[in-house]
Amino acid sequence: MRTITVALGEKTYNIEIAAGLLDQIGAKARVLSQAVKAAIISDSNVDPLYGERLERSLAASGFEVTRIVFAAGEQSKNLTVLGQVYDELARAGLTRSDLILTLGGGVPGDLGGFAAATFLRGIDFIQVPTSLLAQIDSSVGGKVAIDLPSGKNLAGSFYQPKAVFIDPDLLKTLPLRCMMVWLKRSNTAVFAMPACLLRSLLLKVIRSCWSRRTLLLRPAVISRRGSLKKTNLTQENVCC
Ligand SMILES: NC(=O)c1ccc[n+]([C@@H]2O[C@H](COP(=O)([O-])OP(=O)(O)OC[C@H]3O[C@@H](n4cnc5c(N)ncnc54)[C@H](O)[C@@H]3O)[C@@H](O)[C@H]2O)c1
Repeated sequence: MRTITVALGEKTYNIEIAAGLLDQIGAKARVLSQAVKAAIISDSNVDPLYGERLERSLAASGFEVTRIVFAAGEQSKNLTVLGQVYDELARAGLTRSDLILTLGGGVPGDLGGFAAATFLRGIDFIQVPTSLLAQIDSSVGGKVAIDLPSGKNLAGSFYQPKAVFIDPDLLKTLPLRCMMVWLKRSNTAVFAMPACLLRSLLLKVIRSCWSRRTLLLRPAVISRRGSLKKTNLTQENVCC
């Protein structure tokens, strides 16, 4: 288990990284929260893979769990879906002392985090990132947002989670396409090369590494990236 503390005074929180962490989240959330109810906000790809395990872990620690699932993809990060999420939170009877957990990539993290920041003027939330981009970037720093018809991430907030729980094992089910998007994003100097060259280089690298991906993505690697982001974030947040 690796723990990185994001030092933000009263809003200080820990990022915990460990293989198999998903099944321990209930017990860890219980230490942080006296909530009666917990809502998991996820998408239609990730919920069938991991929603039930997370629900079981939370229920075992005494939370009454609701799962809220929206269609996967950036097109869901909008006001309409946010409104549906608010409705489901209200129907489930969440109060200000309850808890939201976002389970998924950057989209459930951003949309679910914004719902947490604004529902009942803000309730506690925990990030459980499942994409590579979310594990090393978007879940850390407290930037939460939705897209508007006039642009991306135009409505949002800076709202710190109570914790970020990163389980690298969850990356095993990640589509190759998403790994490529992240690789491109992670080093613009290398990837300023033409797209066809980049694609063949990446395919070579990924083919040779794919079978060892959990080794490559072991906690040390993720925590190093997390530390980098953390150093940029200790004076609250920066825009992306
Ligand atoms: N808040 C921030 O600081 C910040 C920073 C960077 C990006 N972002 C936001 O993050 C979003 C992009 O994040 P993303 O690429 O993770 O998008 P995403 O959440 O849409 O995930 C990409 C795809 O991977 C699937 N997926 C995620 N985890 C999976 C898993 N373990 N197994 C199988 N499938 C899985 C999702 O269902 C989706 O289809 C954008 O909206 C961007 O604005 C936010």
